[in-house]
Amino acid sequence: MNEELVSTVAKSAEKKHTSNNPYSAPLKLSGITTTDEFRYKTGIGELDNVLGGGIVKGSLVLIGGDPGIGKSTILLQVCQNLGKSINILYVSGEESRRQLKLRADRLGVDSDILIMTETDVEIICEQIKTYSPELVIIDSIQTMNLTQLSSSPGSVTQVRECTNYIMRVAKALEIPVIIVGHVNKDGAIAGPKVLEHIVDAVLYFEGDKQLTYRILRAVKNRFGSTNEIGVFEMTYKGLNEVINPSLMLLTGRPMGVSGTCVACTMEGSRPILAEIQALAVNSGYGTPRRMSTGFDYNRMNMLLAVLEKKGGYNFGGADSYINVVGGFKLDERAVDLCAALALVSSLKDIPIPDDVIAFGEIGLAGEIRSVSQAEKRINEAARLGFKKCILPYYNLKNLSAEVNSSIQLIGVRSVYQAVKAIST
Ligand SMILES: Nc1ncnc2c1ncn2[C@@H]1O[C@H](COP(=O)(O)OP(=O)(O)O)[C@@H](O)[C@H]1O
Ligand SMILES: [Mg+2]
Repeated sequence: MNEELVSTVAKSAEKKHTSNNPYSAPLKLSGITTTDEFRYKTGIGELDNVLGGGIVKGSLVLIGGDPGIGKSTILLQVCQNLGKSINILYVSGEESRRQLKLRADRLGVDSDILIMTETDVEIICEQIKTYSPELVIIDSIQTMNLTQLSSSPGSVTQVRECTNYIMRVAKALEIPVIIVGHVNKDGAIAGPKVLEHIVDAVLYFEGDKQLTYRILRAVKNRFGSTNEIGVFEMTYKGLNEVINPSLMLLTGRPMGVSGTCVACTMEGSRPILAEIQALAVNSGYGTPRRMSTGFDYNRMNMLLAVLEKKGGYNFGGADSYINVVGGFKLDERAVDLCAALALVSSLKDIPIPDDVIAFGEIGLAGEIRSVSQAEKRINEAARLGFKKCILPYYNLKNLSAEVNSSIQLIGVRSVYQAVKAIST
């Protein structure tokens, strides 16, 4: 339980603000004029894609992620590209000017952006009004504070009220603002979750810190689809776009061993191939151990139950593990079949041929159910040189004409048929 002090000062200040605001009077819908929705292209294709085509004028974008994942880095790269044509104010509450300069030098940023190291939101907003930049970056919201509030920076109240304050100023002046928010697991600092409803778009940076690549995902977007992802690689020179993520995820795949299978998942409109590895070994103790990384644990248990009951595979006496290679997370039902095949392959020690790819949802009756966008998945697999595709029977029946003919398609109705298809 956290004690949150209710501040009367903030309340009255808020009231004054709205009554002065010309935007608070009601207006007829037909009376509102819109110029064409204007977007600033960030110059980073993957980021523009996730944003739905660029940063919308007057919008509030939140970029969340673990500390050190690369939020400041990508924003500095945005500054480099956009700073050539527009005025940018970069507010950092975390790093000194010198540190920022050092990072900018490392990333090769030479655009003349305005740098400000300040944590008082009121002062920042004053400066925004004075300089009227065309883009403001706040790094990070957890370091910002409003002096009227008595709670410490990073608390829920501070984070929420600071964002609200910035939002009012930014919306009135139609200046887009990008806010950085750290995700903190131990909960000592209020995370981006408390802001999601306030801002227009929420992007999350994901990735394993030990690995060099990062995935940028939109979880909310008032100006675009939330299904798109961007893939980046962290290098000394900053984040590079990865145009062909499937190839990257599949490099170094072991050949001719059991317990591995390649899945095709859709991330928005983009198909991505990823390797699922499974290990099933005789359990030494009474209760078998189960563990999954990058794959839903409950879904794995369900698949094991279906395989046990409908396929006759004895997983009850085996410890089972699933791992999605490369720190990638698969949360689509269409990867069920691939995970099931990898599990059976490991249990029975039958290697799945290297050029096989599988997708399909598994139902509780052991049936393989059709999935969306089968053509795109097949074509992506064919493009990367796969020769055999195991897919739901109903998908095969309803294929549109335009699939690559270099890949053999095998439609299956049950897990049993799928296992048979890989072992022949
Ligand atoms: N000199 C360097 N060479 C290569 N990579 C670096 C260097 N300095 C920092 N990095 C990378 O940049 C990351 C920090 O990125 P940063 O944008 O500061 O993260 P965030 O703002 O999300 O906390 C580090 O985790 C590291 O991977
Ligand atoms: Mg940072």
